[in-house]
Amino acid sequence: MASPKTSKRRMSSPSDEARPAKRLEVDADAQNDASRQSRHHTLSYPSVNSSQSVPSVPFQQPTGLLTFSYTPQRVLEFTDSALRYYIDPPPGADLRYGYERWIKRPEERTRLDGLLRAVERVMQKADASVGPGSGEKWLKDIAVVTWRGIMTKILTAPYEERDRCELNAMYVNGTLYLEEHLSDARLKEKEDLPPKQRVQTYYGYSFESWCTSSRPGVPERLEGHPVGWGGDVDTNVQWCSVIKTKLGDNRLVIGGEVDCVRERFSGRTDTFVELKTSMSIRNAGDEARFEKKLLKFYMQSFLLGVPEIVVGFRTPAGRLTTTQTFKTVQIPRLVRGKPGAWDPQICFNWGQQFLFKLKSILTAAAEDSSSADEPSARVWRVTLSPREGVSVSLLDEDGVRDVEGGEGRVGFLPRWYYDKVAGQDPDPGPPLAAEAEVPPGTGMPPTTPSSHQPPSHQGWNI
Ligand code: A3P
Ligand code: MG
Repeated sequence: MASPKTSKRRMSSPSDEARPAKRLEVDADAQNDASRQSRHHTLSYPSVNSSQSVPSVPFQQPTGLLTFSYTPQRVLEFTDSALRYYIDPPPGADLRYGYERWIKRPEERTRLDGLLRAVERVMQKADASVGPGSGEKWLKDIAVVTWRGIMTKILTAPYEERDRCELNAMYVNGTLYLEEHLSDARLKEKEDLPPKQRVQTYYGYSFESWCTSSRPGVPERLEGHPVGWGGDVDTNVQWCSVIKTKLGDNRLVIGGEVDCVRERFSGRTDTFVELKTSMSIRNAGDEARFEKKLLKFYMQSFLLGVPEIVVGFRTPAGRLTTTQTFKTVQIPRLVRGKPGAWDPQICFNWGQQFLFKLKSILTAAAEDSSSADEPSARVWRVTLSPREGVSVSLLDEDGVRDVEGGEGRVGFLPRWYYDKVAGQDPDPGPPLAAEAEVPPGTGMPPTTPSSHQPPSHQGWNI
């Protein structure tokens, strides 16, 4: 068995020394050291080369909770206005078509706000149908709330060879919230893509337009455009699904964009279709690279319960050559024993370990007697470094201010949401998997909602 090695040791990188966590400073050296240890942790990835199988961690079939749309004005509405239907693309479609007219959503920090509006709505529905307080009870049972893209990055981290990923984490009333942390420099880098990369990114969106229609089974016919063109690309517009699932012991609420549905949408995930593009495969090396990429395709779709992935293969110049449909659940079998092989069980096992450790760290920190702050308002930086492992550290005041970004937030959570969910129950609840590791009875001081601004729902159209 490839058991994940974990260690908790003090990190002593120069950047840590240069930026002490001012808020938690204490006088005595020993106390200081202990406190520091509780603020910095590292986790190692499991081995991905082991030929032995890992114990399987069950992943529950996702249940759709609700769907919502972003309009061209980027307003969230609880409608299916942005839902599209799958249609076969025209053979040899030009994926560069319409590039000059692409309305590109500006790069910005991807907050959890939309997902939290959905969570609020699910809670309201529970209150209305089961009785007052049911929504709160429901949320208390949810271990993690995050976007699908973040969960994909966490689960595939043991196999990641290139991209570092930074997350912000908060633990509020028994639930872990995770958002991606994008520095200003990283945002600028994403906004100012080199022209070649920008066009390649567009190919993916253009494929979505060629493969979708506003009506099931009927190719789009838009004046002034070739038959089958689904409409000029506007990346503000998205159709999102929020699902509930369970990874091992952890109930997860995950939201993510769904590209289209086949034939009809029944409220379930069984007709969802994910669209992907990839360079045409010309040799064994290309094939191995594609098989590696299939891990991300698989995980991204599996997490939302998307049963089918349509891959459009293209030339470097963006001409569609072929399309191939993959059944999501069959993908792991396709790669087994191949050069680019991966095992989803290594990912699920790691995911369970990661969530358990993270929650243990955040829960233990809530007991840190040297701190006078409000534990549920703390923000942690979780860094997934390729091949190295994960570091978890508590942000200092400057770090938290940077995350808040001068908006009406507590950490990265909008204040209206934080006020709703924090401090309702002073018991932070047991850690994720084994209750024994963290001593019970760790009281989180209640928040003082009266000192907060009134909830603001501005900009939301629900
Ligand atoms: P491909 O999927 O064909 O790569 P998604 O597939 O997740 O629905 O995203 C649709 C398209 O958005 C992608 O097409 C790609 O063009 C672009 N895209 C998504 N995530 C990206 C990322 N991290 N970097 C660059 N482009 C991305
Ligand atoms: Mg897609």
